[in-house]
This record gives sequence, C-alpha cells and structure tokens, in this order.
Amino acid sequence: MQCTRKIKENVYWVGAEDRRLNLFENLFPIPKGIAYNSYLIKDEKNILIDTVDYSVGRQFLENVKYILNGEKLDYLIVNHMEPDHCSLIEELIYKYPEMKIICNNQTIKMIKQFYNFDIDSKAEIVKEGQTIKTGKHEFQFIMAPLVHWPEVMVTYDITDKTLYSADAFGSFGALNGNLFNDDTDFEKEWLADARRYYTNIVGKYGPQVQNLLKKASNIEIEMICPLHGVIWRNNLKYIIEKYDKWSKYEPEEKSVLIIYSSVYGNTENVVNTLSNYLGENGIKNMAVYDSSNTDVSYLVAESFRYSNIVIAATTYNLGLFPKIEQYLLDIKRQNLQNRTISIIENSTWIPGLVTKEVNKILTEMKNIKVLEKTYSIKSSAKDSEFEYIKNIGDEIVCNLKNK
Ligand code: FEO
Repeated sequence: MQCTRKIKENVYWVGAEDRRLNLFENLFPIPKGIAYNSYLIKDEKNILIDTVDYSVGRQFLENVKYILNGEKLDYLIVNHMEPDHCSLIEELIYKYPEMKIICNNQTIKMIKQFYNFDIDSKAEIVKEGQTIKTGKHEFQFIMAPLVHWPEVMVTYDITDKTLYSADAFGSFGALNGNLFNDDTDFEKEWLADARRYYTNIVGKYGPQVQNLLKKASNIEIEMICPLHGVIWRNNLKYIIEKYDKWSKYEPEEKSVLIIYSSVYGNTENVVNTLSNYLGENGIKNMAVYDSSNTDVSYLVAESFRYSNIVIAATTYNLGLFPKIEQYLLDIKRQNLQNRTISIIENSTWIPGLVTKEVNKILTEMKNIKVLEKTYSIKSSAKDSEFEYIKNIGDEIVCNLKNK
C-alpha cells in the first residue's frame, strides 16, 4: 500500500521509514529508527529528488507510482550518492526509461563506481547556480561538497522557496506520521538525535557546513526538506543557529560533561563525588556517562554540546581503557575543538600513564585547553584525598565563571 504525504501544493513526500535496522551505516545505533526522505514535485515535467535505501525500496517504488498516477517521471535529481539515498536509481531507470538524471561531475563518477548502467546517455550535468524549469517550478543547484560526501549538492526550488538540503539538517529517528518540525516538540523529541546525527555524520566537516550556510543565507527559504528527519516549515532560524554553532565547534552548554571508565567502581565513586561537589557549587545541567555502556556516538554528540569535559579513566593492559581511547580518537576524528578538559586517572601500578596517553591525543586537537588540577587515584579514593577532587571542582567552577 502507498504511504505518501502532500507537503505543499503538488509536492509530495514519497520516502519511507525503517525501524528494523539496528545500526545506521552499520555503525550508529538507531533505537528510534530512521527515515529516508524523497520528494516528488509534479508539474508539466515531474521531478523526483533523491531515492531511498534499498531496504525500504519496495515502499518507495509504490509511493512514486501512486503519486505519478500513470504520468511520466521526467527527472531524478541526485543530490547525494550515498547508497542510503541512491540505491533505487537502477530500479527507477527500468520503470521509467525516459527519466533523465540530474547530477554533477563528481556524482557521475560515483554512479559509475556503484552501478553498471549507461549513465552517460541519461545524465544532465549541472554546475553551481545552474537552473532548470519543469513548468511553474524552477530549480537551482547549489554545490555543497563534503556535507557529507564530496559530490553533495542541494537543490533550491525558487518557486516554492524550498531548500532540498540533502544530509544537512537531517536526524536519526523515524517520523512516526509527524513529518514537520512543528508537529512535535523538537527540542524534547528530536534535538538529541539531530545533534548525534550531525556530530557523527557531518561533524568533521565544519568549514564545509559553514560554506553551505553562507550560500543559504543569500536565498529566501521558507521550507527545508532534508533526506532524514523532519521537514522544517517554520522557525528555521532555530535549526540554522544550531548548525552554525555545531559547525563552528562552539558549545551549547556552559556546563560539565563527565565521561569515565571504571572497572571495579572506584573511578565511578570519584566521578560521583566530583559531580556532587560541582552541583553544590552551582553547576547545572551536567551529564555523566559510563563509557562502557554508552555507545560512543552519544559521547561524541554530548562532547559537541558541553564546554567543559572531565575525562576520568583507568589504565588497561599497559594503556588507556579501550572505550576511553575510542572516545578520544572519535572526538579527534570529528575535529572537536574549543573545549576545556580536566583529567582524572586511576591506576594500580602505572601512575601517570593515563594522563600521558590522554594528553597525547588532546595535543593533536585544535584549541583544547587542559586544566592544571588532576587527581591520580591509586586504585581507590581515600577520604583524605578529597582535596584533589575539591581542587579540580574549584578550577572548573572558576573556568566556567570566566567564560
Ligand atoms: Fe544519509 Fe550521507 O547519507
């Protein structure tokens, strides 16, 4: 059965949702599922914007057929050649042999890498700023390399003032019938997943996202239609400001995030004492995570959110506890910058090793300030050592007050 939605006059959502997939890109947990958005704009010529993942291909093809209602599909715009959006191109060609494929020079190379069909006879190559008219609608193409892959472009419908934004402004999470941002309490229901999606998928490419935001600021946008997550039809400023902050690596919360490893509970004990000391001293909205039972994608997202991070880690096999090492390598890979870090270590027989290893990774990152006060726990904390926790807490409070 078709499952489509009209989102504007002659504009239809023909995407699909998947709640069976556990790991997006076989990497990121998606407990709330994922939506693959695709849009069909009917006019004198009918134009489809991107496809979906193969896993939901049957639903998508039924949706496209239903909306076309016997009419031709004239064009497919390929904004992004990652297979979660392009894997139905070949099926569309079989079903709609007259369909032309609008893409750029980078895209065409990738189509040839992924597929064996004759793309050269079907392709209409577009460049920055080029437009195409399909009747009342006129579309303009804006290149957005590395938001998320090098071939990415976004498409602006000049007539409707709609930006089809590819991966930008997307999110993890199925839509559950609420397609629009104002159908839900976005901050409560979506923001954490939108942040986790951005920081883990596109976070590395902050300068490229800034380039796209600059280009987008020169056009009048009434609606943003991303390839994942909700469609934005009001309060666009809210999500654009989030993207601006995230892509400049500016924290959203002037507060403290604590990430720890604790093999036998002794490091966790110190973390609890420190967070209570910080709470007593007026620090609000803190977050504490055990790296062992939190997927690293959540830790990356929270690290983009907070200004101050405490890393409390144990040694393991003559090195860093593996989950902490993975976390640090991930925030480095995602280019996280402009953060203030405090380090607590716990070792039974190699004091100093954790601090050295953490610092080794942090020094390879940009604009990371490591605070002076540390605490080298020898297996477990003693009451007489509380002053170390107090010193770390006081230094963090002082640092936050001066920000
Ligand atoms: Fe949702 Fe970069 O693909």
